[in-house]
Amino acid sequence: MPRLKINDVELEAPAGALVLDLCREQGIDIPHYCYHPALSPVATCRMCLVELKGQPKLATSCTTTVPPAPRDNPEAVVMEVLTNSPAVADARASVMDFLLMNHPLDCPICDQAGECKLQDYSYAYGSGDSKMVEPKRRYRYEDLGAKIVIDKNRCIHCTRCVRFTKEVTGTYELTVAQRGSHLEVTTYSGKSLDGNPWAGNVVDLCPVGALTSRDFRFNKRVWYLKPVPSISRYSATASPVWLDVDQNRVWRIRPRPLPGHPETFFLHDEERYAYHSYNLDPSRRLEGPRLKGERASFDRIREALEGAGPVAVVGQGTFGNESAERLGSLATEESWRFGTGDKHYPILLPKHQLSADGIFNRRGFSERGFRFGLLEILQGLLEAGTVKGLVILHDEAFSSGRESERLLGLVGRAAFSLVLECLPSELGRAATATVPITTCAEESDAVTNHQGEIRRYERALQPPMGICTVAQVVNELKGVPVPA
Ligand code: SF4
Ligand code: FES
Repeated sequence: MPRLKINDVELEAPAGALVLDLCREQGIDIPHYCYHPALSPVATCRMCLVELKGQPKLATSCTTTVPPAPRDNPEAVVMEVLTNSPAVADARASVMDFLLMNHPLDCPICDQAGECKLQDYSYAYGSGDSKMVEPKRRYRYEDLGAKIVIDKNRCIHCTRCVRFTKEVTGTYELTVAQRGSHLEVTTYSGKSLDGNPWAGNVVDLCPVGALTSRDFRFNKRVWYLKPVPSISRYSATASPVWLDVDQNRVWRIRPRPLPGHPETFFLHDEERYAYHSYNLDPSRRLEGPRLKGERASFDRIREALEGAGPVAVVGQGTFGNESAERLGSLATEESWRFGTGDKHYPILLPKHQLSADGIFNRRGFSERGFRFGLLEILQGLLEAGTVKGLVILHDEAFSSGRESERLLGLVGRAAFSLVLECLPSELGRAATATVPITTCAEESDAVTNHQGEIRRYERALQPPMGICTVAQVVNELKGVPVPA
């Protein structure tokens, strides 16, 4: 492998490796705006300049790669990089002056404040001074459809957003128009971003506050938010995400990219805006267990379940592995574990949507003996009287009308049926008993995605008093005391 030096520290790296990536791997901060690992390099912002010993001009580290080792001297140092020389510091300060030339000082009202690269780099690398005496260029903010708002005054023309609509979604809504100091990011003939189901990603990509989300804009200062690691419930990829939480409420979802997993860089808008469903109105939820429509204790439900006879369980593959494990333990026979959930998505971006399956823990449930698509076997067992009791872990958002009908039919055939669900549903009302459970944002667990990778998620919200996790409910049903 070729040898190189970064700030006089010698290391080996494969030929073709990006200098910017290597520096970051060494823990060296290289300021950058236009570089993004999922987009093609354009080297327009000039913020990532480094010095290469022996070369007269500074080079952009986002486009400089490690050359191969010479054949006649494989041990030779092929490149010496300096990221902290006076020439680099001077260049960074000058680039910051240039980028801030037209940028307004509206940080107190800008949504990006607190996570703005312009603020951060200005503080770390800027001159702290402005040489601009001319009036700044001014635009009014514009709606790019119902989801995204652009404030062109703040744009630094890194073109990340433009490259996203060109290279990732292939929808080409955004472009760069005009020339020189009149350069502006805009849409082709006033085209909106509403038709782009991945449009929300341009807000994450924008390193400054030029592109903002209509959904989040002016709602919360970001320094109040606590990021909680979680997973996307959109597809069986179970992409890692951050849930940004404050005051027991989720305010937004952001991608949490995993190295080596390009599909984790971007989120579908359906998932991005699904966080509203995590902030459940407590008045819509059941307050506690119910038996035949009346409030009941766990003891009474346990007695009713024990008295019912042989029990089968039905688990929706949208709960965690711990829930699947505990629910499975309620089945009288191992083979009486059935899986539900039949939601699927169209594949629009094959590179970023690795699975069309909308049941994100189907694999985790399958590995625990839950059999999907075989509810007719369960129906036969109920009709033959072999199975008398039914426990269903349910979330109607992930079942089609056909599957919901089928579940209703099973509940009607069981001598005793218990439904565990977050929100009351027709299925719960038809069952003999219901127990409210926590949502995925209110518990910590893990799922196994379609590739067999374990993806963990942490509790982000405190559940209302008296609402338990599936594991706690199963403990109660088995008579194991639940710790306070
Ligand atoms: S709007 Fe944001 S992402 Fe797009 S070019 Fe301007 S600064 Fe870059
Ligand atoms: S990040 Fe290298 S030039 Fe912009």
